[in-house]
Amino acid sequence: MARSIKIFDTTLRDGEQSPGCSMNLNEKLEVAAQLELLAVDVIEAGFAISSPGDFESVKAIAGILKNTTVASLSRALTKDIDASWEALKAAVSPRIHIFLATSPIHMEYKLKMTPDEVYESAVAAVKYAKKLCSDIEFSAEDASRSDADFLHRVLEGVIEAGAVVVNVPDTVGYVTPSEYAALVRGIKQQVPNIDKAMISVHCHDDLGLSVANSLAAIEAGADQVECTVNGIGERAGNTSLEEVVMSLAVRKDYYQAGCGVDTKQIYRTSRLISGITGMRVQANKAIVGENAFAHEAGIHQHGVLANRETYEIMTPESIGLGENKMVLGKHSGRHAFEDRIKSFGYTLDAEKLDAVFEQFKVLADKKKVVSDKDIEALIRGGAFAAEEVYRLDRYVICAGNTITTTSTVRLLHQGEQVEEVASGDGPVNASLSAINKLVDVDIELVGYQIAAVTEGHDAQGEVNVKIKRDNKVYRGGGVSTDIVEASILAYLNAINNMLQLQGGQ
Ligand code: KIV
Ligand code: ZN
Repeated sequence: MARSIKIFDTTLRDGEQSPGCSMNLNEKLEVAAQLELLAVDVIEAGFAISSPGDFESVKAIAGILKNTTVASLSRALTKDIDASWEALKAAVSPRIHIFLATSPIHMEYKLKMTPDEVYESAVAAVKYAKKLCSDIEFSAEDASRSDADFLHRVLEGVIEAGAVVVNVPDTVGYVTPSEYAALVRGIKQQVPNIDKAMISVHCHDDLGLSVANSLAAIEAGADQVECTVNGIGERAGNTSLEEVVMSLAVRKDYYQAGCGVDTKQIYRTSRLISGITGMRVQANKAIVGENAFAHEAGIHQHGVLANRETYEIMTPESIGLGENKMVLGKHSGRHAFEDRIKSFGYTLDAEKLDAVFEQFKVLADKKKVVSDKDIEALIRGGAFAAEEVYRLDRYVICAGNTITTTSTVRLLHQGEQVEEVASGDGPVNASLSAINKLVDVDIELVGYQIAAVTEGHDAQGEVNVKIKRDNKVYRGGGVSTDIVEASILAYLNAINNMLQLQGGQ
């Protein structure tokens, strides 16, 4: 019989930790709801002690999930464990996830602890957490660069103390598939009480091997895979959820293992994450890239028309892509519009739905065909926006190739109109400078991306910006048929996100 592999999603913790991927509370709740539809087994909602925002989001997610386990990360410290438990305790199925590094380099230089001290701390932390919560996972950070005997000793100790899942991360993306498989086999053979816990694997993609390593670990007997949607995460990212899940689905004959994920929710989950984080998926990305199911070469098209299986090992429908949908336009009603939004994976409340529907009607007057991509861009541009501390009222540009460009921007701030004028190297630069004068905080623009949402002259422009303040990066998005307006909206959105996360102005 096929083994059942647990899917532990850490998009909201390890994924969100990567620069510029931070999400506000509304966005996290939307993602958590979609991950539950995707039917992952565990959602790591955050690192409760790391900030008040993280604590609140773990708590809010714990409150909405109906049947998915929700985890919060903690160092091996009682204050972290207490914070995790405080945030998790209302959950239907809470899990405290404790981590402590076991590799020589981490113990010596980061923790400044001896191996014996690490062993004692790990065991004591698990014992403490076990009094609060029955479901305890322990992660031996940098396990793949740890001494095998010491790793086995720590795992035996934490299982004895009550851990029901032991995770062996390849924290720095260093290991090869056969080494990682050997690590899992070694644990199965050498840790005497391993039958009392599940083995979990957690890989990073620094050498592009995270999915291969996770699959090799499954072959060697791992029970749980930790991963993120679209593989987002620190540095080169984490194991991509969709690649592991579809590998298990397509090659069930080989792995003799499956998982409970509803693969038909994969595409919409991927779109939701790239929309919310602004981290675009590369066109040739496996499973969810724009070209993953596109057959350009004539000989391929001929083969696929004759029999899809000549060049297709899985169908677009299996990941929820390619249902035939009616085109929406200015005569479409609110019902059809709401159905379409649900089909993208969004669950907007009535107020947000009304707001996006209004924007859709305005756009439908400007564009002949409003595509799904346009509608998704409208949602990304506003539905989850942070509270609008600053809101665009109007702007006037004076530009040309023989004059100095100036922009006059008027914003609404705490019910009042505030206006500034600035000059710059073109209309976007001048407008952002005018906003800087109005907001009057030290912000650096560290990323600016613009893309057409669809083809054609009447396409909407979508702008994603990243701004930096006090060494933290905040993201913002804006969409409009006018790219200067899209730029202003994106910049204001980033500023509002920053103010919300910093609890300011
Ligand atoms: O990569 C890692 O080691 C981690 C642990 C905290 C699980 O993310
Ligand atoms: Zn990690």
